[in-house]
Amino acid sequence: MPTPAHTSTKRVDEAIHEIRTVQAYAHEPQDMQAYAQRVEAAFAVGVRRIRQRGVLIAAVIFLVFVAVGIILWIGGHDVLSGRLSAGQLSAFVFYAVIVATSVGAVSEVAGELQRAAGATERLLEMLDTPPDIAAPPSPAPLPEPPRGTVALDAVTFFYPSRPKDPALSGISFSVRTGERVALVGPSGAGKTTVFQLLLRFYDPQSGRVLIDGVDVRNADPRSVRRRIAVVPQEPVIFAASVWDNVRYGRPDASEEEVRAACDAAYATEFLSRLPQGFDTELGERGVKLSGGQRQRIAIARAVLARRPILLLDEATSALDAESERMVQLALDRLMQGRTTLIIAHRLATVVGANRIIVLDGGVAVAEGTHATLVSDDPLYRRLASLQFGLTDGEAGGRRQALAPHA
Ligand SMILES: Nc1ncnc2c1ncn2[C@@H]1O[C@H](COP(=O)(O)OP(=O)(O)OP(=O)(O)O)[C@@H](O)[C@H]1O
Ligand SMILES: [Mg+2]
Repeated sequence: MPTPAHTSTKRVDEAIHEIRTVQAYAHEPQDMQAYAQRVEAAFAVGVRRIRQRGVLIAAVIFLVFVAVGIILWIGGHDVLSGRLSAGQLSAFVFYAVIVATSVGAVSEVAGELQRAAGATERLLEMLDTPPDIAAPPSPAPLPEPPRGTVALDAVTFFYPSRPKDPALSGISFSVRTGERVALVGPSGAGKTTVFQLLLRFYDPQSGRVLIDGVDVRNADPRSVRRRIAVVPQEPVIFAASVWDNVRYGRPDASEEEVRAACDAAYATEFLSRLPQGFDTELGERGVKLSGGQRQRIAIARAVLARRPILLLDEATSALDAESERMVQLALDRLMQGRTTLIIAHRLATVVGANRIIVLDGGVAVAEGTHATLVSDDPLYRRLASLQFGLTDGEAGGRRQALAPHA
């Protein structure tokens, strides 16, 4: 259960990391107030604890003084009656104090040990939790050399947090070796979900996901993921040097290979202009990159990884024409010789795809090339006119698309 201290550190962490958003919306007073409230709550708990401790300590001290008083009273009588010397009595009191403090220290250590045992128990519990996605006892080997095929077979999938609302229902499609297939659909159609299943972050409730012809449920998830390179919608840049960021794709790559990957991703030009070139620290502690630059680093990472299947989630945020062109060139190079499944938001991508699958509400509603879909599928026509902007030759399609959605 989250404690007040726990949630307040989370809030502070968020507010500091997203300080630009906080400032941009002039949200400081609310954040400060929320933080003050949480600190007050934590403080109140602290005061209660210390008060209880204070009572306990007062009781202990009282008992100690009572004991010392009793000893001195009895001992004093014995000294007066000559049964005990004054030196023996003071030595006894001195030793008794030493023993008492040592016992106190031991009990404190015992308390610490008990706390550590409690924490360890929780840790072990966490380590013992079986993951939902695990390799079967004898995982099926994936074919060698890799074929680079991808297929979904009647897949129905619900996210665990939304068990009533299928994210995908009864989807089937397959991608052959070297093919370039685009997934297109309105926001929330389930495009990214398809990728999550291919990477086996989730298992579908029914149907099969096949990579290189093997049901991913029967294979080791790590060997499945090693066949797939991902360029996500929001590329992740780690707080590390350019070398480390690109090498993330293949940690044992040589310096030349990293440079070649950056060349292929059209990233060398801007990378060499960074303050310390390839040694520049990126991300949180270092230089921040623009959207297009981040994408090109992600592409270089995927180039370096040299994996037969490429999953590409095109950024929805528009880049300026120049970076757009660079990213497009980099992607074209990356897709060469790989089986590519690409979530498309750009005209160039859908036109260049061998096949387009249109998703809507978790269902595959149409399949074809750009030309056939523009003439046959009203949803695609609408998406094409809104998202991609149609070319002159398709103006007929555009007029129809702007008519109310059938
Ligand atoms: N982790 C999650 N838990 C619960 N529901 C989710 C989760 N991720 C996505 N969804 C839901 O699943 C549906 C499909 O989401 P998905 O991310 O696949 O959409 P998308 O087609 O990629 O959309 P976009 O074009 O906006 O990226 C949506 O209704 C979404 O709300
Ligand atoms: Mg998405």
